[in-house]
Amino acid sequence: MTSQPREPTSAIDWSQPLGFKYRHPRSHIKYVWTKETGWDNGKLLSNHTITMDIASTSLHYGQACFEGMKAFRMKDGKIRIFRPDLNAQRLLQSCKAASMECPPTELFLEALQRVVSDNLDHVPPTDSAGSLYIRPFVVGSGPQLGLSPSPEFSFIILVNAVGPYYVGGLGSPVKALIADSLDRAAPHGTGNVKVSGNYAPVFAATAAANAKGFAVNLFLDPQTHSKVEEFATSNFAGLKRAADGKPIYVTPRSESILKGVTNRSCAELASRHLGWHVERRDVPWSEVKEFEEVVATGTAVVMTAIGEIHREVKTPGKRVKKNSNTSSGAYYDWDLDEEEEVDAKLEMEVVKF
Ligand code: COI
Repeated sequence: MTSQPREPTSAIDWSQPLGFKYRHPRSHIKYVWTKETGWDNGKLLSNHTITMDIASTSLHYGQACFEGMKAFRMKDGKIRIFRPDLNAQRLLQSCKAASMECPPTELFLEALQRVVSDNLDHVPPTDSAGSLYIRPFVVGSGPQLGLSPSPEFSFIILVNAVGPYYVGGLGSPVKALIADSLDRAAPHGTGNVKVSGNYAPVFAATAAANAKGFAVNLFLDPQTHSKVEEFATSNFAGLKRAADGKPIYVTPRSESILKGVTNRSCAELASRHLGWHVERRDVPWSEVKEFEEVVATGTAVVMTAIGEIHREVKTPGKRVKKNSNTSSGAYYDWDLDEEEEVDAKLEMEVVKF
């Protein structure tokens, strides 16, 4: 049981949009593992920084993974966390993919209970459209210069009051842009787990898409760029109808997309409670125009309606040497021997829902 206040704190103006930004709650929780000690008993800490060795594997080699969950203040006064067991399982898979020691499920659930209990007053009011975002993460925090796992791991959970991820809130459909010049994941890579290294490479494409008025990028399969995979932040699901008019929840199946807890829950609800068909299969980009609705599903984005998807269709140009002096020097100059593409043509394909 906690001695902390339970009602929403007056330090946050709950009437203003919360957005998706970090605002320093009371505490986070941290557990440390070493081979000699195993996982320690964990501590609630009130600072917002961590100290680790400068040769930590998370800093150099990206030996890190994370999860996302939410706690909600419900109408009956209880605070509930959405399906944390599934996130605990996924964290195990992510840790395995990055050769990391993972907190067992019981420890994960205990940590969750402790940190949320200590920050109950940061769970937004029931009618605020906000929730307490919960971000568990595991990082290699010990020194290791060569390419092998860290001798120490830290398991930390931070919590933070958030509102809708996209500006405009859940009620406003957003526009997505297909990212054809970047693959979020490799065919046999780590796209199916939540390792930190999957995310930073997407920042530049997101910024470029935002600058053109798109909220998010949609990625296609890395091998053929012909099948829908997932959004930068979340999974993809479309609604279409069978010949008898019955709705079908269609979502991509691929080894390089994250197994989303929200997507899975939507599919289960659609099938078990609404009686819809669910199809988890290849989703060719050419089929997307047949969908009545498309949504992005994820913990942070919840279910965000996608209003339009745009794709720049490129007619390739000519490859030319950047500098004509390449062959005149006595020595080979790598910098001068670069090529660029000129006269490529771009047309925009637009699908609206
Ligand atoms: C989440 O939905 O919890 C996520 O991790 C999305 C994040 C990349 C913004």
